Amino acid sequence: MDLLIRNEQPGDIDAIGRITEAAFAGQAYSSHTEQFIVSALRRAGQLTLSLVATRGDELLGHVAVSPVRLSNGAAGWHGLGPISVRPDQQGQGIGSALMEAAIARLQAMGSAGCVLLGEPAYYARFGFRVYPGLELPGVPAEYFQALPFGGDVPQASVQYHDAFNATA
Ligand SMILES: CC(C)(COP(=O)(O)OP(=O)(O)OC[C@H]1O[C@@H](n2cnc3c(N)ncnc32)[C@H](O)[C@@H]1OP(=O)(O)O)[C@@H](O)C(=O)NCCC(=O)NCCS
Repeated sequence: MDLLIRNEQPGDIDAIGRITEAAFAGQAYSSHTEQFIVSALRRAGQLTLSLVATRGDELLGHVAVSPVRLSNGAAGWHGLGPISVRPDQQGQGIGSALMEAAIARLQAMGSAGCVLLGEPAYYARFGFRVYPGLELPGVPAEYFQALPFGGDVPQASVQYHDAFNATA
C-alpha cells in the first residue's frame, strides 16, 4: 500500500502523541517533551502544518511546522519540528517524504523560509544549511539550519513559540 502524506485530522491526535513520544524516547539529545510541544502548538493554534504519514489505517510519522519570530522583524518564517517516524518504520524514506511535503506546502503558501534544529548530515539533503548570522540562542550554531524560499536569509535571532517550553 502506498504511503500517503496528509493533514492531521482529529482522529489522528492520540496516535501523533504516541509516535512523537516513541520516536524521541531513545534520543540522547531529546528533551522528551516533544509530544507536549506538538499538543501545546495545537492548543495555541500555531500548527501552520501538521502532516501525518499513513499507510492504510496506520499512522507512521508526523511533522509539525509553526511560525517563528525573527529579531529583525522579517515576516513569514517558519520552524519545522518536531518530526517523528515510528521507530520500527525508520530508514524507509518516511521522514524524507514528510520533509519534502512540508517544504512544498510552505513554498506554496508563500513562506519566506524555514528553520530547524537538527543533525546537519540529515537535513542537508533537503537544502538546509547553517547561515552564520541567523541564530537560535542557546544552541550550538552547527545544528541550527535554514532553507530560504527565494529571498535572503536575515541576520537575526530566532524565537520559537512558547509552546516549545511545554513540559506536560
Ligand atoms: C529523523 C527521522 C524523522 C527520519 O525519518 P526516517 O523515516 O528514518 O528517514 P528516511 O528514511 O527518510 O531517511 C533515512 C536517512 O536519514 C538518515 N538519518 C536519520 N536520522 C538521522 C540523524 N539523526 N542523523 C543523520 N542521519 C540520519 C539515515 O541514516 C538514512 O540515511 P540514508 O538515506 O543515507 O540511508 C526519524 O529517524 C526519527 O523519527 N528519529 C527520531 C526523532 C528525531 O530525531 N527527530 C528529528 C529531531 S531533529
